[in-house]
Amino acid sequence: MTKPTDLQQRLTGLLSPTAVITGGSDLEPYAVDWRKLFPGRPACVVRPSSTEQVAQIVRICHDAGAAIVPQGGNTGLAGGAVPDASGTQVVLSLNRMAAIRRVDPVGLTIEAEAGCILKVAQDAAGAAGRLLPISLAAEGSATIGGVVATNAGGVNVLRYGMTRSLVLGLEVLPDGTVANGLRKLRKDNAGYDWKQLFIGSEGTLGIVTAAVLRLLPRPKHSMTALLSVADPAAALRLLELAQDELGDQISAFELISATSMQLVARHAGLKAPIAEGEWFVLIEAASSLAGLREAAESMLGSAFEQEIALDGVIAESGVQAAQLWALREHVTESEARESKSVKHDVSVPLTAVPQFLIEAGQALAAGAPGTRVNAFGHLGDGNIHYNVLVDAGQDADVVNHIVHDVVAAFGGSISAEHGIGQYRVGELARYRAATEMDLARTLKRALDPDNRLNCLDARPPWHER
Ligand code: FAD
Ligand code: MLT
Ligand code: ZN
Repeated sequence: MTKPTDLQQRLTGLLSPTAVITGGSDLEPYAVDWRKLFPGRPACVVRPSSTEQVAQIVRICHDAGAAIVPQGGNTGLAGGAVPDASGTQVVLSLNRMAAIRRVDPVGLTIEAEAGCILKVAQDAAGAAGRLLPISLAAEGSATIGGVVATNAGGVNVLRYGMTRSLVLGLEVLPDGTVANGLRKLRKDNAGYDWKQLFIGSEGTLGIVTAAVLRLLPRPKHSMTALLSVADPAAALRLLELAQDELGDQISAFELISATSMQLVARHAGLKAPIAEGEWFVLIEAASSLAGLREAAESMLGSAFEQEIALDGVIAESGVQAAQLWALREHVTESEARESKSVKHDVSVPLTAVPQFLIEAGQALAAGAPGTRVNAFGHLGDGNIHYNVLVDAGQDADVVNHIVHDVVAAFGGSISAEHGIGQYRVGELARYRAATEMDLARTLKRALDPDNRLNCLDARPPWHER
């Protein structure tokens, strides 16, 4: 056995021995990301059980000059939650701080600790007859802290906005002190709204230990439909029609390519219950007023009449709705089983999505022949997961630049919802204007002057200069 370092000894002195992992197979799940693209080597993993312990850990790490990488469910797709390979960074896992402190069905709030699993928080809100509308395929493992730190999107953004729009209060540690902003207020213009800086900062500015999220009344009726369309332009026409006929009741509008469906059939054994097509759209609508189903049937009728939809089905029960959703939710996992992929989490203005898909396909065919595209995502938000299936010999940077150059030409973003992490540091510097990068560096230096939060030493474009 190797001798524990001073840092490990001080941390073990603070926490119980089982709350500090210094080696062995227990370390592995914390050291590498979900896709195993960023294998790291932590100095150790610490698992505090209170905000006070987090504060003490931060102080000990600062004294020792050690960097900290906050980690929630480690479901992130950008490699932001794992350390580099230096063996000097401490992974601070929030997974023991998982309590739901309070659900207030009248004030429409839920207060939860950072390590609380998103699904657990959704269920607690549901049990009180309320809705926490953040929903993503990783919700059974992703945590409230991770969701806040990444400003997660998911399938309900179209109606309820990104995580940011649902955060009322935060408790954060930018250093060894606790900024307690766990307010439950809808209106609060008393000075800077500093919590916004931490939402989406991916653990680079502070550690989130708890949050107050906004809830909504839970709609009494919901409707889920799967339709096939000829192409993405038809999918956009369907969105317009659905908005005309169902208005603000639409809560999800997801695009799925035939390739995605084939991968899900091959690796998850799931098959769409409608005729095969080139593109599919999964629509969900929800309302507390009666008549949703009738409105949806009428919308489907118009879609067929106007030859926008080729085939389609409305779920007859909750079980059938879950079966339709399973097709969409298994795309990421099925893609991972199929082959290596270069992921792109891009957004372009909504009406530009069809043309973006055409031009990105042409650019790839010319610059990276032999690659296959698995495109799917949140069409209602203009956010497409344009994932490129590659063989081992393919240079990921080349593929990234081909796709991102097309994104840039449409005035889009190289990360709509997954964030920068380790994966997109170089791409961020390439596509964001120098003035915006300078502003980001100014904020980083103000809040983390010694560059101790989230392995930025390994990310030169941020901290150099
Ligand atoms: P982690 O992966 O542990 O961490 C993510 C980042 O946040 C890291 O930079 C980490 O350092 C930081 N962080 C974590 N906890 C804290 C904290 N308490 N304080 C400060 N920083 C912290 N994302 C979407 O936006 N939309 C989707 O639709 C979506 N679908 C997904 C589907 C699948 C199958 C998978 C595997 C992932 C998907 N994701 C999606 C990505 C991921 O689930 C989200 O980014 C999620 O918010 C990450 O939560 P987490 O707890 O796992 O965070
Ligand atoms: C999803 O929406 O399922 C994920 O964000 C996408 C991905 O795996 O690229
Ligand atoms: Zn997504």
